[in-house]
Amino acid sequence: MNILDGKLVSQAVKSSLRVLVEERIQNGKKVPHLAAILVGSNGASETYVASKVKSCAEIGFKSTLIRLPEEVSEQELLFHINALNEDFDVDGILVQLPLPRHISEQKVIESIYASKDVDGFHPESVGRMVQGLPAYFPATPYGILLLLEHYNIETKGKHAVVIGRSNIVGRPISILLSRNAYPGNCTVTVCHSHTKNLQEICLQADIIIAALGKAEFLKGDMVKQDAVVIDVGITRVEDPAKKSGFSLKGDVDFSSVSPRCSYITPVPGGVGPMTIAALMKNTYQACLAKD
Ligand code: GUN
Repeated sequence: MNILDGKLVSQAVKSSLRVLVEERIQNGKKVPHLAAILVGSNGASETYVASKVKSCAEIGFKSTLIRLPEEVSEQELLFHINALNEDFDVDGILVQLPLPRHISEQKVIESIYASKDVDGFHPESVGRMVQGLPAYFPATPYGILLLLEHYNIETKGKHAVVIGRSNIVGRPISILLSRNAYPGNCTVTVCHSHTKNLQEICLQADIIIAALGKAEFLKGDMVKQDAVVIDVGITRVEDPAKKSGFSLKGDVDFSSVSPRCSYITPVPGGVGPMTIAALMKNTYQACLAKD
């Protein structure tokens, strides 16, 4: 069993971006600038946004964080997004999800200019990705591709089983793994809450992407010998032994699954840091597009 070390690979991605930013500065070019909007004070969202802002600083990107109260109106949020859309200095915009229930996530996603949509959630970005056109890929699926690529994992002709069909992870990774490219050229099965024979399907998988958001759902008896397992889950589970009061659990039961795998991502330290590295790459590209 080999660990797919997202922490290590994300550091490598960020280091190469830092070199590119230094070159840009020396050549008098614009520094990439990511703007993030955080609505309310959801603990997990606070942590994710703080990591994104910190990564910008490490690489040498500019970042702007706009914090808005839970009760902010949809109209006011859209006003802030529009100001960022019109600000030439801002290359990428992300609005951390989930949003409070009174705000339409779809409306918010569609209000971001596709040229600044570094999250890859805008229908134009998704449509371009589906058609194999240059596009910003959503950060988590893109991070998974970067990880598979870094470890030279063969994907051509493999059966990839994706558990989960969210717009953020399951659906886009299923599209990306089926495209005619590397990593890709997989035969992809998308499983979800209505899938009947999940264990039988998972046992046929060469690659499993667990992205359903249920702690330790995937067990060893669902995994074929030497499968590659990518764990996208990150659920907070109460843990009085921890100072924070919780521990982070993936969608994969690591103790029973890892002995069967050829490669597996840990939680934390697998897909999570890769998501941030991928967002940074998208932001860099968005800046490059203005040269
Ligand atoms: N919430 C969970 N994942 C993401 C992500 O990749 N981007 C944003 N904006 N919100 C998220």
